Amino acid sequence: MKQTSHDRLLIIDFGSQVTQLIARRLRELNVYCEIHPFNAVTDAFLAEFAPRAVIFSGGPSSVFAEGAPMPPMSVFDLGVPILGICYGQQVMMHCLGGKVERGHGTAEFGRAYVSKGAKPLDWLNGWFLEEREQVWMSHGDHVSALAPGFEVFGTSPHAPFAITADPARNFFAVQFHPEVHHTPNGKTLYQNFVKLAGFKGDWTMDAYRDEAVQRIRDQVGDGKVICALSGGVDSSVAAVLIHEAIGEQLTCVYVDHGLMRKAESEQVVGMFREHYNLPLIHADESELFLGKLEGVSDPETKRKIIGGLFIDVFEKYAKQIGGADFLAQGTLYPDVIESVSFSGGPSVTIKSHHNVGGLPERMNMQLVEPLRELFKDEVRALGRELGLPDSFIGRHPFPGPGLAIRCPGEITRAKLDILREADAVYIDQIRKHGLYDEIWQAFVAILPVRTVGVMGDGRTYDFACALRAVTSVDGMTADYYPFTHEFLGETATRIINEVPGINRVTYDITSKPPGTIEWE
Ligand code: XMP
Repeated sequence: MKQTSHDRLLIIDFGSQVTQLIARRLRELNVYCEIHPFNAVTDAFLAEFAPRAVIFSGGPSSVFAEGAPMPPMSVFDLGVPILGICYGQQVMMHCLGGKVERGHGTAEFGRAYVSKGAKPLDWLNGWFLEEREQVWMSHGDHVSALAPGFEVFGTSPHAPFAITADPARNFFAVQFHPEVHHTPNGKTLYQNFVKLAGFKGDWTMDAYRDEAVQRIRDQVGDGKVICALSGGVDSSVAAVLIHEAIGEQLTCVYVDHGLMRKAESEQVVGMFREHYNLPLIHADESELFLGKLEGVSDPETKRKIIGGLFIDVFEKYAKQIGGADFLAQGTLYPDVIESVSFSGGPSVTIKSHHNVGGLPERMNMQLVEPLRELFKDEVRALGRELGLPDSFIGRHPFPGPGLAIRCPGEITRAKLDILREADAVYIDQIRKHGLYDEIWQAFVAILPVRTVGVMGDGRTYDFACALRAVTSVDGMTADYYPFTHEFLGETATRIINEVPGINRVTYDITSKPPGTIEWE
């Protein structure tokens, strides 16, 4: 639980796939909220958290199941508004004396339309734009009798209790999911809910910046902090924020493994040194990394070598500055939530979200993680607030092992040079066509195959490359980007004309799954 001066909303997680979306909707309304799994929410927790309002998420369980997830009964005595969503509605009815029935034959999944009830309800102000509103349903069991004090304010053909409320206690419960995209006007329900609960909407990145600075000062005191700066958005925003808080007590180390893109190291180091005057060690260790990678073509071995060397190099520079008491990391809120997942353990699907995994244990340092409460777009907003240029904040993600995993087969300096040039032309094309921000990630992979071509009057025997561009929300799943044939043709021509060493260009149209975004 975080120290914050803001009013807080508590989201009790019953295991829905979309609980994070509830938090997103609330943060968009400048309301500070935290998600906690139901089994962590005890009476003592509630007393300490002191929420101004509570939301029960949906979930896959049935209230009839043995050990069904339940909130503590004391939550209903806090005297604050409560909103129950789907399973959250069933829980509310179950706890307060209503009835829930098993969903034989009445399960409902997908789009549905909720019609206005006879009575008005403040919470629904502005929600029904028409006589009926589109919503997204996804439930097996359903409420069959209301708890005392509750009334119906909206129905759908399969959900006679689609919207229910006890207006005297400000308890609201819906069978559908207002947080998802398919409930188009769902934001209004959250807006009305937080207004009714008296939230001031003061969770802004402007205010957050000042608080975070103070918190970093309190945590670090006169200690020393070291930060591995990768040039990615998260570590960059964390570094600039920490620098604002403690100035010269922070040292950043930019480990240059020789696997960066064209001009990338100069840009990153230049920006932080000149614009931010941030104490920064440019650790040019490309000889070391490329030397150890010589002759290696197995993808996992490459990753292990790079990861291991990264830690060695980082430790070397930490020693050089006389050690540090704290290690700064750009951990984000989704990583934090996943680590206390509903199932009680870290989710198997998360991937390591930074490139310094393994450092904290080995170096025995405390962590400074000033972005732990933020979602990615909030980090971007904070970055803007701190003056990082838009072009930097909007950059596509770049993996820790860099170009190594875009060079299948053996890595050579010559291939890396060709790859850097081809990638620069490709990204230039994407920017020129105004497509950069529509794409989650775009890059070139140089293939371990040479093919025959003809240029002018001569035969060529050069490398083939693959262009990759995907759309995605979080990198977990992805689709290839549908470039026009004109764009692809023009880009291929430019690469072949401008990049010696490449004579064939292909476009990778694999989605994820079954492919992955990177080639290794
Ligand atoms: P894949 O290839 O697994 O990539 O579909 C998903 C996203 O993760 C990035 N990626 C990494 N990022 N260190 C990172 O910081 C890594 O080792 C790493 N491997 C993959 C990849 O660029 C894509 O955005």
